This record gives sequence, structure tokens and C-alpha cells, in this order.
Amino acid sequence: MILIIDFGSQYNQLIARRVRENRVYCQIESPNVSIDYIKKLNPKGIILSGGPSSIYEKHSPRINKAVFDLGIPVLGICYGMQFMIGALGGTVKRADKREYGFAALFIKNHMDLFNGVNKKTKCWMSHGDSIVKLPRGFKTTASTENTNIAATVNSKKGLYGLQFHPEVHHTSQGKKMLRNFIFQVCGCKRTWTMKSFAKDSINQIKETVKGKKVILGISGGVDSSVAALLIHKAIGKNLTCIFVDNGLLRKDEAKKVKQTLKQHLHIKIRFVSSTTRFLKGLAGVSDPEKKRKIIGGIFMEVFEAEAKKIKGADFLAQGTLYPDVIESISAFGGPTSVIKSHHNVGGLPKKMKLKLVEPLRYLFKDEVRLLGKELGLPDELIWRQPFPGPGLAIRIIGEITQRRLSILREVDAVLLEEIKKNRYYKRLWQSFAVLLPIKSVGVMGDKRTYENIAAVRAVTSKDAMTADWAKLPHKLLGKISNRIINEVNGVNRVVYDISSKPPSTVEWE
Ligand code: XMP
Repeated sequence: MILIIDFGSQYNQLIARRVRENRVYCQIESPNVSIDYIKKLNPKGIILSGGPSSIYEKHSPRINKAVFDLGIPVLGICYGMQFMIGALGGTVKRADKREYGFAALFIKNHMDLFNGVNKKTKCWMSHGDSIVKLPRGFKTTASTENTNIAATVNSKKGLYGLQFHPEVHHTSQGKKMLRNFIFQVCGCKRTWTMKSFAKDSINQIKETVKGKKVILGISGGVDSSVAALLIHKAIGKNLTCIFVDNGLLRKDEAKKVKQTLKQHLHIKIRFVSSTTRFLKGLAGVSDPEKKRKIIGGIFMEVFEAEAKKIKGADFLAQGTLYPDVIESISAFGGPTSVIKSHHNVGGLPKKMKLKLVEPLRYLFKDEVRLLGKELGLPDELIWRQPFPGPGLAIRIIGEITQRRLSILREVDAVLLEEIKKNRYYKRLWQSFAVLLPIKSVGVMGDKRTYENIAAVRAVTSKDAMTADWAKLPHKLLGKISNRIINEVNGVNRVVYDISSKPPSTVEWE
């Protein structure tokens, strides 16, 4: 495995993805990890990420210097390189201005990292400080016009530094450089497959749970279904799943999910319907964060009451994925600002005094899908687009009423039918409708109408951290709009959301 130390870079996930794409396992950890812990992990290589700080700042993130004496190859990227050079006695010059953007990189030494890389290649710079003097044993291996020491090596100790970012696609041969580090320098093998992951994970679950009972909240989405299947393979009937119908699901969803789960998972599932309780709790509430908190709170009560009926349960399983975990380990130990309070993360375990089992916490969404395939989950479940815990409540802007819910259900059903029929469902990260709380004037059959507006949202994404609006063909958009207005009572106008994330988010609330 490769250990990635998180110095707060916005590109950390990208580094992890790049390593995993090569079928090598990697893990991101905070700089506060102890040397003993690193030794226990026994990585073949260590990558120190970039970060927004200057090594001269009082609270800039640091890792124990002993990491450079472990005999494990280290690659420092941007801030990671500056930290390494500073810690080993070199000189880093403070800059008041950042160098940001493309630069031509001139390679001076084609050994190791730059093996097979062109003499002149494009790289992506994003740094303030730069290195002006190298410690003993280091030499410069590449330069740019502005940055004399753009890459460095101490071959004897296996220490490498890159001032630019090899993980972003703007560095044209960055993938090759990372591959050189992983395979040539560190000697990793391509052994990280979902088959090996499933085997290890099943053993680990058996060892942790040891004959005790596990409860898992299941939604019918790919994450909780894969988690259920994996845990079931490990502990069989000691797993009980709970499905809560909160009345905020899409058209016929509760029924369909029930059918699919029963048919394919063969796992004990308790179905609880609490629709009125959620709707009552939401009555008169328009504020998005309030809605989320209310739904999260009621969910917790319903889930807890059901879980209490399962005697002797010691563990709570969750389908938490790696992006959530990465977001919660900030290099500075502090939480990043709360954009939206996702209702399935946090809260539950502490109050219920159950120990957590999170078998997917080191996986990205596309890996979860591969794992699902490996475990024999049907395509119907594997390729379900993500659906948020608070459901349609965050897709009805303003107050939630039965009438609005039923309008949105119909709109969404038409939209999904067209998306599926035209083979876009699998290609899109998500496609859904949002009901707006404003009305507009229209004309239908010579009569004036004054009805709701529905927005269509379709995005492409790898992991929902960033997303782009989908460039759906105009003909398809026209058909969707036409069908919605003609078939759904209460909507006379359809608009298409053309905002990317950031600065917008995927969901509207
Ligand atoms: P945003 O709107 O933050 O959404 O760009 C990113 C991804 O997360 C989903 N989402 C949620 N999923 N509980 C969930 O399980 C939630 O509370 C929640 N809120 C947003 C959203 O659908 C998108 O895939």
C-alpha cells in the first residue's frame, strides 16, 4: 500500500484515485499519525500531499521528521516537497505571490520518476513559496522558467520532491510520473482488486463482530446494499437490515425497493412505514437546514425504536464512503465548513451506544459498484443513481405538502422514464426534478393557466465532490418538457438547471 499524508490539499482525493487506478491500495492519513502507526501500516511508499499553508506559518501542518529515515521512499508534492526540504535543512523562500497555472517543465534527469517522460512537458503549478537551496544529498531533476528547483531527488535515501501537481490532468505526463513512483521506486504490485478487497473485508468483519448482532439501515441504494451483502457474507443471519419509508420517496419507490431487496439480497429486512410522522414533523417548515435536521431526528427515533426490538445487537453498520471520511479528516484537525448536514452521517451511533462497522469507508463510489458486481449484486441495484436521505423534501423548495409531493413524484417519474428510455441513466451521476414554489402563467387549449414550475437537474460526476451539468440533447430536453407539461397536472413550465458544482451544489437544498 501507499500512504498519503494529508497536508490539506484540495487534490488529495485525486492523488488517492490516481494510485487506486493502478490497482494499488492507498490510504489517506493526517500528519499527526505516529511513526509507530506508519510502521504498522507498512507502506511501500509515502506521498506527502500539497496544501494551502506556508511552512513558515505557526500552525502549518507537520509530520514527524523521522518519516524520512524509515527507509521507505517518500514523494513530496508542492507543500509536501517544501516541508521535506525545510525539515532536512534546505532553504524555502517565502513568496507574496502564488504561481498558478501551466508551465513548461524541462527535465534534467530521466531516472526514476521521469523515466520515459518527454524532455519538455507541461505541468500544473499552484504554489507560493519555492525552494532556493537543497539539503545535502539532493539534486535538481527538473526546472521551469520561474522555478529553478521544480523537482528534486535524493536517490540514496529514496526521497523525491515535485513542486508541481502530477495528480491533476493538466500535468500531461503526471500519471506516468506517479506510476514510476509507485512501481519503479516503491516496487508495488497491482494486487488491489475488488476480489481481494471482499475477501479481506469479510474476514475483518467476522473478526470484529465475533458472533454478535449487527443492524444496518438500508435504503435500496448501492452503498447500503453492497454493505449489506458484504456483511451478510461474513455473518449471515446475525445481520438485520431496517428500511424506513419516510414518505419522501419517489413514485412507487418503497414498493419497488422492497421487491428488489427481497428478491436479490435474501437478507432479513424489517420494513417500517412512518410516512405520517415525517410529514407532520415537516409541516410548515421551509428552511432547508431545518428540514434536514427534522428528517434526521425523526429517522433516528424511528430507527432506534425498531433497533431496540432486535435483542443483543452490539453493532451498527453504515455504508459510509471514502469521500465522507476524507472530508472529516482535515489536516488541521478542524471541521471544514458545513455546507449541508447530510442526515446519514453522524448522530446515530453515539446516542445508540452501538459500535460502528463501516466496511466501505475506504472505497470510492465507482469501487463500491465494482465490489457490488463482484458480490453478485444485480445491475438494477448497482447502477441506481444516488438518492439523498432526506429524499424529495430537499427537492421541493419551500414547504412540503402532500399535493406538492404528488406533483413532484409524477414529474420525476416522467423524467426518469425518458432518461432510461434514451439510455442516459447509467451515463449520468444523477438526474431528477425539483419543484419550485413559484407559479407562472401559461396557455393551454386557449385557456390561461397559472401553475407550478419544475426544474430538471442532470449532472455528470465521478464522486459528487464536483459535478457538471449534463449536456443532454435539446431534442430529449424538449421531449421531457413536453411530456411533463402535458401529463402532470399542476405544472405548466419546465426549466433546465445549467449550473456546475462548485459553485452550485447537486441538490437544490
Ligand atoms: P450536494 O447537493 O451536496 O450533494 O452537491 C452531493 C451528493 O450527496 C447527495 N446528498 C445526500 N445524500 N444524505 C444522503 O445520503 C443527504 O442528506 C444528502 N444530501 C445530498 C446528493 O444527492 C449528491 O449525490
